[in-house]
Amino acid sequence: QSKYMFQKHIFITGFMGSGKTSIAKKVADMLAMNIVEMDSEIEQRCNQSISDIFHMKGEGFFREMEHALLNEITESDVKSVVSTGGGIVLKESNVHLLKKHGIVIWLKATPKDIFSRLSNDAQRPLLKDNMSIERIEKMMNERDSAYRQVADFSIQTSHEKIDDIALEIVKFL
Ligand code: S3P
Repeated sequence: QSKYMFQKHIFITGFMGSGKTSIAKKVADMLAMNIVEMDSEIEQRCNQSISDIFHMKGEGFFREMEHALLNEITESDVKSVVSTGGGIVLKESNVHLLKKHGIVIWLKATPKDIFSRLSNDAQRPLLKDNMSIERIEKMMNERDSAYRQVADFSIQTSHEKIDDIALEIVKFL
């Protein structure tokens, strides 16, 4: 299979802990496409963990980096499967770029599942000090309309295996 079988990027979006990174990897493998994990790329560029970037430079700085990276990706000729950060939809300009340059997949999960997946994870600065199902629910409610607005396809990840979810996504494409 060609590395460039798609004319557009495939953006994997959704809340923290919805499985974006592992599902993006699987989809990229299946399609023999390049993969970009935005959070890891930002960590490498800053030589700092996401958590340290938030604490030492602030969320605003992180959002600038995130936007600049998305811009760069969309300008590239190499089409990639892109695992985005959960907050990518918070900037209207990002929503515009996602819609214009890619096929957007929204991974959905229940607050309860997100809670159990993330409760042993210290790497989510926005939830680290204040993790509860209620808080996850509240953040999700605030973001759902933005995810919905940008999505071309959505899929529940709560009770499915990664391989099955990736297959559903590839079938949609
Ligand atoms: C964030 C999600 C994180 C990371 C940062 C902010 C968010 O990515 O970009 O901590 O605002 O939802 P994941 O969705 O990969 O956890």
